[in-house]
Amino acid sequence: MFYNNPFAELATVIPAYVMQYFVVAMVLLIVVGVALDMLHKKNVVYFFRNAQKAKKSAKEELSTGKKTAVILKTVAHDIATTSELGMGKRRLAHVLGMYGTILFWIGSAVLIFKYSNGAQAPSLVPIIWHVGAIMTCIGGYWFWFFLRVDVSAEAHPWYRIITADLFVLALLACATFGLAWSYTQSSGMTGLSYLFLVLFILANLVLFGGVYWSKFAHMFYKPGAAIQKNLAEADGSRDNLPPPADAPEQFGLGIKREQPKHY
Ligand code: HEM
Repeated sequence: MFYNNPFAELATVIPAYVMQYFVVAMVLLIVVGVALDMLHKKNVVYFFRNAQKAKKSAKEELSTGKKTAVILKTVAHDIATTSELGMGKRRLAHVLGMYGTILFWIGSAVLIFKYSNGAQAPSLVPIIWHVGAIMTCIGGYWFWFFLRVDVSAEAHPWYRIITADLFVLALLACATFGLAWSYTQSSGMTGLSYLFLVLFILANLVLFGGVYWSKFAHMFYKPGAAIQKNLAEADGSRDNLPPPADAPEQFGLGIKREQPKHY
């Protein structure tokens, strides 16, 4: 299964250009969904106003070199390792899901645009596609069943679904049905493979068509906010927040008794 390029087999039924148009349509759905989300929430307007306001209280004018250094450090640390999630399971699950999804999407794009019209894909590319989907499933299901705040802190059962779950569930459906489609196709279970293909397509339509209603856009907002926060720290404006108290962090022994989980 790991060496199987499911799009190559599909190309014998659906022309490669149709698959390519589908990918382009999904990218357009992201652009439209994020743009509508920004218009609706006005978060980008707030973000820039806040940044301008904070700039006035900056204690230091950052040179381009210093700004670049802060941005690169934020990308390498805060964004690439989702450092805001601390050192625990939550961060590990997110990193697995995030890199899994990135590999899955890159693998899909390469297989569809380069290797679905007869050319044989090097075995590494389908492996990347499958490994990406598996990593997404491990990180995503771990999050869904055990780490989600509703489950881990609010004691709701794992099967309680709310609108905010649209993103993680659609992402998991894409990875799961993609794997099931590839497995059934490579094992010669033709009928089942078409069923999983249809579910895979539907899951993608929900994931990319639901950007406006889901948490999809956080993958763009979070990096922007992390960069702004670190720039504000470097120029001393600190988003107009007071500096940390010049005192040791002593919260008493009680803080060690239980993980913070009552949100
Ligand atoms: C391909 C990129 C990414 C994917 C696929 C992804 C996926 C996810 C998923 C599935 C969730 C759970 C959503 C939910 O609460 O239902 C999540 C939450 C979160 N993501 Fe991402 N994410 C990506 C990029 C990022 C980036 C770049 C950052 C930060 C720099 C980030 C920070 C977070 C945070 C802080 C949460 C909340 C986690 C929690 O409640 O435990 N994500 N992400």
